[in-house]
Amino acid sequence: MLTQTLFEQTSHYLHLEETYGAHNYHPLPVVLEKGQGVFLWDVEGKRYYDFLSGYSAVNQGHCHPRIVQALVNQAQKLTLTSRAFHSNLLGEYAQFITQLFGYDKVLPMNTGVEGGETAIKLARRWAYEQKGVPENQAKIVFAEGNFWGRTLAAVSSSTDPSSYRGFGPYMPGFELVPYNNIPALAKALEDKNVAAFMVEPIQGEAGVVVPDEGYLTAVRELCTANNVLFIADEIQTGLARTGKMLACDHENVRPDILILGKALSGGLLPVSAVLADDVVMLNIKPGEHGSTYGGNPLACAVAMEALKVLTDENMAENAHQMGILLRQELAALQSPYITTIRGKGLLNAIVISHPDPEASWKFCLDLKDLGLLAKPTHGDKIRFAPPLNITAAQIRECVGIIWKALEGLGEEA
Ligand SMILES: Cc1ncc(COP(=O)(O)O)c(C=O)c1O
Repeated sequence: MLTQTLFEQTSHYLHLEETYGAHNYHPLPVVLEKGQGVFLWDVEGKRYYDFLSGYSAVNQGHCHPRIVQALVNQAQKLTLTSRAFHSNLLGEYAQFITQLFGYDKVLPMNTGVEGGETAIKLARRWAYEQKGVPENQAKIVFAEGNFWGRTLAAVSSSTDPSSYRGFGPYMPGFELVPYNNIPALAKALEDKNVAAFMVEPIQGEAGVVVPDEGYLTAVRELCTANNVLFIADEIQTGLARTGKMLACDHENVRPDILILGKALSGGLLPVSAVLADDVVMLNIKPGEHGSTYGGNPLACAVAMEALKVLTDENMAENAHQMGILLRQELAALQSPYITTIRGKGLLNAIVISHPDPEASWKFCLDLKDLGLLAKPTHGDKIRFAPPLNITAAQIRECVGIIWKALEGLGEEA
């Protein structure tokens, strides 16, 4: 009787979203109401391991007590001034984040895609003011398979029809090269009007595509040699997710423009940041770019605490260790249905091979029933990216759950 009522509760919430919300997502049928650390709970009281972490926005774990406390304290004091006035926190935050990542300046925004737009505006402006590109001729080069959000500029650079189809006309001045292909990039950068190459150090949405070792180093060298800005979109890969503070740190490479988002607030608020040196940043003058909420005191307080939690709790090191364990344990399963296991730190994906084209979706439904939440991306790829404070015992328990769900795939074959 009780179960029946709770099930009806879930159906009620699903029905409300379906009826009154736009149909722009295809979520797993689970209705969540609570989160703590690596766990989520649904409205029926069932507990799950979170293996998505809000697409890497919740690196610090759900509702991290220190970040929540910072939010509550600041929310009771001052939340928004707009940039018409100064706040006592923006300067402190700007000093903190620029010193942490080693750049002259930060430009604060809210969502990740706004960070990407900001980086591109900065690059275009730099090209006109510093590089001498003729007006309106600047080009930005992107890698095929990129994902940096849903604005018109972002979908204009996309190679995924489900992102761009039916939304034209598209942004001019964008070019594409294959990912992880240095000769193609070298050719593209010969064009004197290229302002920047914008790239994810590991392509997240594409299915955790890890480039060859040395790729980022070669990108850096090519950009420098051609006087082109290297923009690293570390919105998903950054902030300890891949086992280093930045994924670029694996090759000790410093981009000219660094974009951060997602875990910059530990999942509490939309907070993004664009970091660059003065030669890039100061080409944008007062009144030429901004956002009502960008750099608001609440975001500043939350972002500082979220960054401190990452370093204080050694989350990059834990991500590195737990990532190795996760990939080892998954490999040890020797499942015929897993063709690939790839990733760095705790940004991982498996590729499922199965005669049923719906197998990945069904597999994720089985994982859900067994108490683990993950979501397929691009059909056959499933991302495994838990919060970074997961323990070795928990990783082993999760691999046990994955094993059981793989057995289920066998029964369907
Ligand atoms: C690499 C990367 N860049 C940018 C974005 C866009 O971020 P947001 O959804 O906050 O706009 C995403 C989101 O998934 C991303 O993975």
